[in-house]
Amino acid sequence: MADAFPPAIGIIGGSGLYDIEGFEGREEIEVSTPFGPPSDKIVSGLYAGRRMFFLPRHAKGHRILPTELNHRANIWALRSLNVRWIIAVTAVGSLKEEYKPRDVVLPDQFFDRTSRREHHTFFGNGLVAHVAFADPISSGLRELLAEEATAAGACVHNGGTYVNMDGPAFSTRAESNANRQLGFDVIGMTNLPEAKLAREAEVSLATLAMITDYDCWKTDEAHVTAEAVMAHVSANAAMAKAVIARVIPRIPLEPSWPEHHALDGAIMTDRKLWPE
Ligand code: ADE
Repeated sequence: MADAFPPAIGIIGGSGLYDIEGFEGREEIEVSTPFGPPSDKIVSGLYAGRRMFFLPRHAKGHRILPTELNHRANIWALRSLNVRWIIAVTAVGSLKEEYKPRDVVLPDQFFDRTSRREHHTFFGNGLVAHVAFADPISSGLRELLAEEATAAGACVHNGGTYVNMDGPAFSTRAESNANRQLGFDVIGMTNLPEAKLAREAEVSLATLAMITDYDCWKTDEAHVTAEAVMAHVSANAAMAKAVIARVIPRIPLEPSWPEHHALDGAIMTDRKLWPE
């Protein structure tokens, strides 16, 4: 969708964040991709003079399990709309005492415990590339989120490792304790593949993680249940919206951050994935 606006900003909404208000000229659009349809219709509109696109990760009504997500379709759809920055909002479990439910965590690292990684790349079928992923999150976008989440009154942890499990069942206590011993900070089921695909799509992505529970390691707390998670999730959604509204006007107009050039020198085959 070429228009008079600078490259667009995408928001992927997680559990509890299925829609976003305040877009001017709001429209719902269906996007098709070579990987099939994204999770849902994408909401398009303008906010603070920027073209915005919002996609509810699990679809309205929370109909898609983490392992059923078509991450390639989701990221491809947003990139095809000229999205060059993505804020990926997500619910996570805490693996540390001091990371409390309703705190904001802005991970700077991921640890992969997923099992369907063939879906976590746009490459293959004759197109070979290896993008650098040592720093999987856009530090520019993460810093903006840290400043604005703090200004919005959130308790913010800027940095940390997000361990990505498959789900849908939560961890056993042995797994939760092992994750803690390995020094991981939060656990979730969705964000690593999004970050990997965004990097291949030369999109700057940062994860806005919001804690809903202490997983199951903390034996003086009730074990994580979907019900407890959903109560914190709806409280977190209001904070996520406030943070997003503050960050959008601060996102640069030009895609000139390092992630925007992630494919420079990465593609081994003489073909392009994205138009110049
Ligand atoms: N999302 C929210 N809480 C979680 C937990 N404890 N484990 C995995 N994903 C989660």
